[in-house]
Amino acid sequence: FLPGSRPVAQNTSTQPALSWNIVGRGAIGLLAASRLQLAGYKPGLWLHQPAIVDIQFQQQPLQFLSATPPLQAVLIPVKSYAVFDAVKTLQPFLTEDAQLVLSHNGMGTIPEVLPLLLPTQGLWFLTTTHGALKQQDAILHTGNGHSVLAPLNAAASRHTTAVAQAMDIALGPLAVAADIEPFLWQKLAINAVINPLTALHNCKNGALAQPQYQQQIKAILHEVCQVATAAGYPLQPALVQQNVMQVIERTAENFSSMQQDVVHQRRTETNAISGFIVAQAARFNIAVPHNSQLQQQLLQLQQRYCR
Ligand code: PAF
Repeated sequence: FLPGSRPVAQNTSTQPALSWNIVGRGAIGLLAASRLQLAGYKPGLWLHQPAIVDIQFQQQPLQFLSATPPLQAVLIPVKSYAVFDAVKTLQPFLTEDAQLVLSHNGMGTIPEVLPLLLPTQGLWFLTTTHGALKQQDAILHTGNGHSVLAPLNAAASRHTTAVAQAMDIALGPLAVAADIEPFLWQKLAINAVINPLTALHNCKNGALAQPQYQQQIKAILHEVCQVATAAGYPLQPALVQQNVMQVIERTAENFSSMQQDVVHQRRTETNAISGFIVAQAARFNIAVPHNSQLQQQLLQLQQRYCR
C-alpha cells in the first residue's frame, strides 16, 4: 500500500456508524455526499442558507436535506482560506465528541483549526486524488482516485474505525496514515506546479507537458523539495517531478481548481500553496524565487477582480 499508510479494516468493530454532514455544495463534497447516500448513510448538507439540494449522480436523482444539529461528524471540503471560518461557525452546533474531517489543497490550516476544538472533539485530514465537476444540477466524477486519511489529535484516534469506514465509502479507496504531513507535502508539490501555471496560462493541465514549461517546473519543484526536506519531510526532486508529470498526463483534459477560480473570478488558494512554500522557506532561510513570483503574479491577477 502507500508507504506510511494502511488500508481500512473491514467492519468488525462495535463503533456505531456516525451521522455525517458535508459543508457546502462543492464538487468533492457532493461527490462524497452522493456516494454516502447510495451506501445508506443520510448525509446532511451544511449550507449558508438551509435548502433542499437535488442533484443527479451516475444517472440517479438524489436529494439532500440541510444538516440538523447537533452535528456528530462533518466533512469540510472547503477552500483552504474558508476552513477557519467554517469550523468557527460550526463549533456551537457540534457534539462534545464530534469528528471533523478537513480536505483541501494547500497547507497551513491545521494549526489554526486545532485550538478551535474541545479536547474531546476529533480532527482529521483527508487528502484525495478524486476529481469531480459540478454541472448545473449534476455531479460528474471526472477522475477516479484514492484518498489518505490521518488523525490530527488524540480525540480523533478513538473513532478511527467509524470515520475511516465512512470516508472509504465517500472518497475511497482509503488508506489510513499516522502522519498526514508527508502526503500533504507530496500533494503540495503537485499543486505548486499545476495550479499556478494553468491559472496564469489559462490552459488545461495537459498543456504543461509541453517542452516550454519543463525548466520552470523543475525550478519550482527544486524549491519545494528543499523546503520540505528542511521541514523534516525529505522529497527527492527527480521522483517528485516524475509524479507531477504523471498527474499532468492523467488529468490532461482537466482544468485545475485554480484555473477555474481565475476564470470564474474567485479568490485562489495561492497563499496556501505557493504562499505556504514561501512562508516555510523564510523560516529556514531558503530562497524560493520561483514560488514567490508565482504567488505574486496570482495575487496581482486576483486583485483585479477580488476586493
Ligand atoms: O487542484 C486541482 O485541480 C487538483 O488538485 C490537481 C491535482 C492539480 C488536478 O487538477
